[in-house]
Amino acid sequence: MKYQQAIITGASSGFGAAFARRLAFDCGRLVLIARRGEILKNLASELQEAHPGIEVLVEKCDLASVDDRRKLIAKLKSLPVSGKTLLINNAGLGDYGELASATVERNASMVQVNVQALVELSHAFAPLLKAQGGGIINIASLAADLPIPDFAIYAASKAFVASFSEALRLEMTACGVPVLAVCPGPVHTGFGDVARRQGCSDGSAPFKKWFYTEIATVVEGALKALRGGKARYYPSLKIRLAGLLVRNLPLPVLRFIMGMRPRKVTATHPES
Ligand SMILES: NC(=O)c1ccc[n+]([C@@H]2O[C@H](COP(=O)([O-])OP(=O)(O)OC[C@H]3O[C@@H](n4cnc5c(N)ncnc54)[C@H](OP(=O)(O)O)[C@@H]3O)[C@@H](O)[C@H]2O)c1
Repeated sequence: MKYQQAIITGASSGFGAAFARRLAFDCGRLVLIARRGEILKNLASELQEAHPGIEVLVEKCDLASVDDRRKLIAKLKSLPVSGKTLLINNAGLGDYGELASATVERNASMVQVNVQALVELSHAFAPLLKAQGGGIINIASLAADLPIPDFAIYAASKAFVASFSEALRLEMTACGVPVLAVCPGPVHTGFGDVARRQGCSDGSAPFKKWFYTEIATVVEGALKALRGGKARYYPSLKIRLAGLLVRNLPLPVLRFIMGMRPRKVTATHPES
């Protein structure tokens, strides 16, 4: 068994559920965190049936809520642990459209879930990881390297995740604890449906299709990169090359290219 426990945020869908299914082979305990408790319970039953002996805990939590996060962290810290912990800060959301017509609530959720929850969980577990070993996987994005119009807060939140992970990795390396930022390009998950505003067209969609990566590639590659002590993981050759290119372009050139990008037809989010 590689880890005594794996704690996965955003385990009800996409990458999070895929990490849970993969890590069920390597962990004594899985802690699945998201708002949709019923989906988590079904996933827990599926995993317990397929892997007798594994402990699967379901934590229904809105990571955008300060109160929920405080209760979650207290609960997680009270769990008995004698071995390695893998923390996967995966939960996240986006919002396709310009800032001027965004909602205050959606903007706040992106910062709270993509940034604040990730920082609080990393902070809560850093001492345990230093003492007992394990690792942290933070799900950033290829967007971490790009200022993206009509995706401004999301891209900036992922730039934070990548930078934070790089610095935390240097702090934790001395104790042998790997910290990895995963930077996928587009992948078919629930992400697009959550991010898409009503009446919003995705002008970049045909171009984006060329970059799609399989979920399994991201999950397997991330776990391998963590084991290899890598700082960042860009899944697939196309995404690695795209990341390399944008990180090495002069800023005026990058601004010009991003300015030429097809704009989303803007509409307010259905929540408004
Ligand atoms: N798919 C892509 O193209 C892509 C590319 C690069 C990076 N990413 C990143 O990958 C990560 C996972 O996203 P995904 O692609 O797997 O999308 P997804 O299928 O929509 O999954 C997002 C997960 O985050 C959880 N979540 C969202 N808001 C939450 C909240 N307030 N409290 C608790 N959990 C919350 C969702 O659970 P509930 O709704 O049940 O709460 C869900 O489990 C995100 O950080 C995303 O930014 C995705």
